[in-house]
Amino acid sequence: MSSTSEWAASEAARRRTFAVISHPDAGKSTLTEALALHAHAITEAGAVHGKAGRRGVASDWMEMEKTRGISVTSAVLQFAHRGCVLNLLDTPGHADFSEDTYRVLAAVDCAVMLIDAAKGLEEQTRKLFDVCRHRGIPVITFVNKWDRPGREALELLDEIEREFRLKPTPVAWPVGDAGYLRGLIDVRRPGQMLRYARTPGGAREAIEEPVSADRAALEDGADWGKAVEELDLLQIDGAVHDQEAFLACRTTPVFFGAAISNIGVRLLLDAIVDLAPPPGPREVEGGGVRPVDAPFSGLVFKVQANMDPAHRDRIAFMRVCSGIFERGMTVTQAASGKPFATKYAHSVFGQDRSMVDIAYPGDVVGLVNATALRVGDTLYAGQSTVFPPMPTFAPEHFAVARPVDLSRSKQFRRGIAQLDEEGVVQVLVSDLRGDQAPVLAAVGPMQFDVVSARMAGEFSSPVKLETLPYRLARATDTAGAEALNRSRIVQGEALTRIRDKAQLALFPDGWQAGSFEREFPTARLDHLIAAH
Ligand code: G4P
Repeated sequence: MSSTSEWAASEAARRRTFAVISHPDAGKSTLTEALALHAHAITEAGAVHGKAGRRGVASDWMEMEKTRGISVTSAVLQFAHRGCVLNLLDTPGHADFSEDTYRVLAAVDCAVMLIDAAKGLEEQTRKLFDVCRHRGIPVITFVNKWDRPGREALELLDEIEREFRLKPTPVAWPVGDAGYLRGLIDVRRPGQMLRYARTPGGAREAIEEPVSADRAALEDGADWGKAVEELDLLQIDGAVHDQEAFLACRTTPVFFGAAISNIGVRLLLDAIVDLAPPPGPREVEGGGVRPVDAPFSGLVFKVQANMDPAHRDRIAFMRVCSGIFERGMTVTQAASGKPFATKYAHSVFGQDRSMVDIAYPGDVVGLVNATALRVGDTLYAGQSTVFPPMPTFAPEHFAVARPVDLSRSKQFRRGIAQLDEEGVVQVLVSDLRGDQAPVLAAVGPMQFDVVSARMAGEFSSPVKLETLPYRLARATDTAGAEALNRSRIVQGEALTRIRDKAQLALFPDGWQAGSFEREFPTARLDHLIAAH
């Protein structure tokens, strides 16, 4: 083994690349700040994520995000804790962005599932969890807002087990019901309780005081007794952390706390270091794996243009999968076989950028002005490799886009092509409709709002969108496409998806798809991957 591969392997071993998945409002931004604060990446909570009144960095680059208070884009935050380097990838919080989220989750090794103590599992938590399960990403659970009245701890565990078929194995257990938190028991150190002094607003690390079991019994009698009893019950039930079962996605270690007061955050951070897996070998097309100590390889999981209006550039986010990335090195783009120069490599967190000179497996690098790169692209040095393509989901919403001002059709075409390459929407075309009237296809209707905002703001070509009555897409072939466009009985239309040249047959509903199958029994009609 060469010294470079040993170096790559040892750096990979101390990397933890993860995402926080949650329903909007569960406290993802607050937890992100609290994690970064504990890990000493920043000095003051509030400096990481933009929410009203705080200094915005990550998620407020677009006007729409500001007004809606949601994060449409993704950013990466890197910080150090106990000798490890943690890469936290931000996932879009809105239910409509499942395609984008899926791509981000293709770049992480672990997820922290954040649950609101009062609400339990919510719609978006379920969808994101499904993606993790599908990709085999181990999940750590953090029950947040324990400083406020909420549900019973055991009831929440039951819900996780019942709905996700995932055994919850508490690692931190609350003393006191939600809203009456006395402290936490670190299950691995059962003879004591951690008591927290509140730091209002969460601007500083919470002060953690270990209290002996005797003192806890004296001072927090009933609550302490109940917590100990519950833990005994859980132990009898076999709810004990098992690393192998966790990595195999059969169990989830559970933590309780309050991100807003930094309660329980240190225990979670320690768990990410101790339990979350480091980058490992990655499956490649045609079978086999690329180990982390192989020569450099990376996966482009996101492409984003104009993140910063002052820069007007295009960034491809790449996760290093193996070997060592050095800025300036020339690598090969697997899709084209062409060399790609990496002169402009940045670490990007919202509008904060700095040059990256070196990166290791698990790290994320922003390649600036990487116009040739597409989502799902593999880059490599040395022995050629291709990672499996990112799935494209079945769109369920369709609209024809036209330029408001016909004299700006050049900008219109450029903008639509750009948004297609970024994967903001899928763009479908047909000879019948022509390139001034492409059909935009989306998994969620909010993707259309993003298109409208960006076409007007960035490409100076406002668009008119006319919703089409289709709700179902199936993959077909040329014969099927011709048959559908010829049919006088079936309501539907066949179009070509620019991204992969796939022929898609669109129908208003399953009934129409069924009549098409009856009219043309030999035509191909395949299901596409459902986003949720
Ligand atoms: P998100 O990114 O998941 O959407 O959630 P965010 O962190 O913005 O948190 C949503 C709301 O929940 C915020 O209140 C936040 O202060 C609150 N919150 C987060 N963690 C905790 C916690 O541990 N305990 C309690 N009690 N509240 C928590 P907001 O009123 O909507 O916004 P803000 O005015 O506080 O910023």
